[in-house]
Parts: sequence; C-alpha cells; structure tokens
Amino acid sequence: MQELFKKAFEELGYNTEVRIVKSNKDADFQCDDCFKLAKEYHKAPIMIAEEVVKKINEAKNFSQYFKEVVAATPGFINIKVSDEYLCNNLRSLMDKEILGSTKENHTIVVDYGGPNVAKPLHVGHIRPAIIGQSIYNILKFKGNKVIGDVHLGDIGTQMGQVIYGILKDFPDTKPEDVEVTLDYLNETYPKISALCKEDEEVKAKCLEITKNLQDGDPKYQILWKKIWDTSVADIKRIYDYLDVHFDYWYGESHAHKQFPEMLEYMEKQNVIKIDDGAKIIEVKEKDDKIEMPPCLIQKSDGAYLYATSDLGTIWQRVKDFHPDEIIYVVDGRQSMYFEQVFRAARKSHIFEGILQHHGNGTVNGPNNKPFKTRDGGTLKLEDLILKVKEEFINLREENKNMDEEDIDKIVNAIIKFADLQNNLERNYIFDIKKFSEVVGKTGPYILYTYLRINKIINESTNKLSNAIYSETDRALRLKLLEVSDVLDLASKERRPHYIAEYLYELSVLANNFYQNNKVAGLTGIQKEDFNTVLNFNNYVIKTLLHLLGISIPKVM
Ligand code: ARG
Repeated sequence: MQELFKKAFEELGYNTEVRIVKSNKDADFQCDDCFKLAKEYHKAPIMIAEEVVKKINEAKNFSQYFKEVVAATPGFINIKVSDEYLCNNLRSLMDKEILGSTKENHTIVVDYGGPNVAKPLHVGHIRPAIIGQSIYNILKFKGNKVIGDVHLGDIGTQMGQVIYGILKDFPDTKPEDVEVTLDYLNETYPKISALCKEDEEVKAKCLEITKNLQDGDPKYQILWKKIWDTSVADIKRIYDYLDVHFDYWYGESHAHKQFPEMLEYMEKQNVIKIDDGAKIIEVKEKDDKIEMPPCLIQKSDGAYLYATSDLGTIWQRVKDFHPDEIIYVVDGRQSMYFEQVFRAARKSHIFEGILQHHGNGTVNGPNNKPFKTRDGGTLKLEDLILKVKEEFINLREENKNMDEEDIDKIVNAIIKFADLQNNLERNYIFDIKKFSEVVGKTGPYILYTYLRINKIINESTNKLSNAIYSETDRALRLKLLEVSDVLDLASKERRPHYIAEYLYELSVLANNFYQNNKVAGLTGIQKEDFNTVLNFNNYVIKTLLHLLGISIPKVM
C-alpha cells in the first residue's frame, strides 16, 4: 500500500516518504503527506490530495487493495482497504510464528526490583518490580538475551542497625547461635531506625557497625548473612506471588567485591579527584541546565556510597555478561542520581554501551499522594495485595467459592493492569474498587473477554476466506493487524503501557464482535472464518497478557 502511494505521488511529480497511519474515524488508514508537500510545492493540500486520489483510483489493481480512497478536507487521504487485502495481511500475520517479531539480539541487563534487605517490601516497590518484569518479558520475546538482576540494597545502614539491635538483645550469644526470624526483623529494624533519629550516640554506633561490616568484620558478616537469608526469603515469597523473577539475586554487597579493581582502573583513567579528603568524579557538562553535583565515590572516612555500588555493579556486569545495554527500572525521583552515575561510568570508560534509566512514577492513594496506611505509615506491599484480594472476593457472592489459584491470578491481573496501563513515568491513583471491576479498563475485563470467547471457539482452525461479514468483524480484524507494530513500539521504547492500551482496545472490539455477530449455530465457511479470527484474537490476548506478567484463570 505504501509503495502504491509512493508511486502515485512520484508520477505526479511529488517527492515524499509517504506515511500511512491507522485511522480511527472515517477510514481504516490515513495519509497526511499532502500538508507537508503543500508548503514545498505552494499548492493547497486538498488539491494535491485530490490529484493523488484520482491517480490511485485509476490504477488497474485498485480493487485488489482498496475499497475506497477519497480526499477529505483540508487535505487528508482516507483509505478503506479491500476485504481481500485485509484478509491477506491477517493470514500472513497468523502464519508467522511469533507475531512477526524479529530477532533483536542485544544483550540487555535489566536492573529492577531493587528492594532493601531487612525491611519489608512496601507499595513503592510494586512498580519497579512489575514494570521491570514486563520490560524483561518484552525484550526477551523480541529475541534479545536478557539478564534480570534484583540489585538488593543489602549493605547499607539498615543492616548496621539490625546488627546493633541483635548485639543489644543477645549480648551473650555467639553470632552463629543467634536466630534471626522474620518477626524479629520486622520488629527490630523500625525500632532501631526510630531510635537512631532520637539518639546521636546510637546513630553513630550503627554507622560504625555498618562501616566495619563493609570492611569485612567476620562477626558482623555472620549476622549479616542470617539477616540476608531471612529477609530475602520473604522478599522472594512476595515476588513469587507477583510472578516476578530474577536471574541474579546480587546486591550492593556483591558490588563491594569489585571496588578495589574498579577504583584502580578509574585512577588510571585520571578521573578521580580528591575533594576535602573524599574521592569524587566531576560530571558537569557545559550545556547543563541544572547544577550537576559531582559523583561521590568514597567518603573521607573510607566509606563507600550508593553510587559506588552502582558503578561497581556496572563493572561486574560488563565482566560477567558483556552487555550492549544496561537499563534501570527505578523510581523516577532518582533520575538526577542516575545521570551522575551514567556520566561517571562513561567518563571513566568502565562501560561504553547504552545506559538508560526508566524512571517510574508513584502509586498514589485516593488523595493523590503516595499510598499510606491510615495512620500515615508506608503501606506494606503484602497488605496491598491482601486488600485487593479481599475487595475482589467481596465483590460478588460467587467469588467466595472460587478456586484460590484462580483468585490469585485475578488479583495479579487487577494490580498489574491498573499499573501497566499508565505510561511508566506517570503517577497514578490506585483505586482498588475501580480496578477490580469486570467493566472498564481493568485486568478482569481483559480476562473476562478472553474466557468468554474461549467458550465459543470450538476447534483451532487457521483457515480464512476473503470474506468479511460485518462492520464489527472488520473492526476487530483491522485491530488485530496492529499487533506487531504495538509490540515493536513497546519493545523499542521499553514501555509496556502500549501493550496494555492495545489489549483494552482489542477487548472492546472483541466484545462488540461477540455481541453483534451470531456466532453460535453457524456452519460452513463463515463458521470457520469466525473460529479462525477469534482463535487468533485469543492467541494475541494470551500472548500479550503474558508479556504484562498476567496469567489467565480457568474460570471467573
Ligand atoms: N535500593 C534502592 C532504593 O531503595 C533502589 C535500587 C535501585 N537500583 C539501582 N541499581 N540503584 O532506593
């Protein structure tokens, strides 16, 4: 179609790229090149559009491609494709094994999740986990080699604080004999962290413990390992529930092992400066619109920082994985920090590939501020999950008797679809009631559409004639043709919301189709055609839901 138009423009003496885009209103597709050409050729856009339309209508293979091509004021060309063209394209899309995806073949490390050990996961952890997992799935689906790393915050002051608590509570127990339970952790971390805010002496002691821990104190290492094991087991349990998985459970502590080697390399690159006893890398650039503070690598007392861990981790990833890209799905409020780290990495030549931060927005409560509990504390992620589950179960009487596994899949769909339908940098309000409904732009609506259609497709055929039976049939098929573009876009921009948005639009059209076409009781070719279209529709829904991390329940 693109080529036919290009030829028509050329024959009329116009030189243009020709962009044909999907149109939602009066046509299937639309071409708006005439506006650009109007300026260049000093003619009204509608005049050019009319010339091209005339030319196209005269082409001898017109009807093979088009049903109707018309000019529309002020200068659009509206295109309705022929049934044959539409069916041909749909057939070739269905023939391709994985929706026409090409092998992208990059090695990409995705850094997502990023929870801190010894603290429970809270609402703020949900977005980096599910957006990150979805980006991981999409990139993998497109043929890339993808490596997921959780990048635990596992050697910061919170570890020193818990160790301080243990030393106070069990002064006479040998480190190997101390038992660190989850309840103990959940109680101790908030207690000592609050204490540090009131008591300077305790705070200093905790910092000292942290420093010694980082320097390898064997007694602290033993306690550290116990805290790590207990806490990470619990983090894993909740990520498992959300179907969020990592290839590597490395953390900042792992990066520490890289520091000596990396620092030596950086010294050789002559990028490290001493400022008041601290080691820094200047990262200012002359076009900066805002002040870029230097990247702090080591404090004057020898302590390492958050940035040192991220740089050390880049060093380790380069050595272990030879990536083309390292991408970070981390809270957008850290964007300045990542800019500093990326610049420091480039300036010191520890990594020459692509570094990208996909900064996510916050999940907000009804007041449009980051979600809090009733008493103003941070809401635990597990409590949010439980709230959603309770809401769903109480929604309708029959939900109470549902299979537990199915309920959990629906809870996942509610949470993930609520989230992933938003462009990742946006903040959004998590309205549990609204997102649990089976109508509207919700996870349950997509699941319901799938299951409803699944009931009527009786055999898996892939025969398709050139007939189209109704407007709703036509609309659904046209939408299905968009799927590979949507996948390309989501993968290129690393934005799952394109997929969520498409899934919703597709589901609306699939339901329209269902309501307006008699599907039951059909025979012959029409039956076969509908079966094929709906089969493919459900294949697309299932595949895309999987990319969003959503599984389909047996019934709902
Ligand atoms: N643990 C960090 C925090 O709680 C997030 C880690 C994000 N990932 C990274 N590579 N810095 O803020």
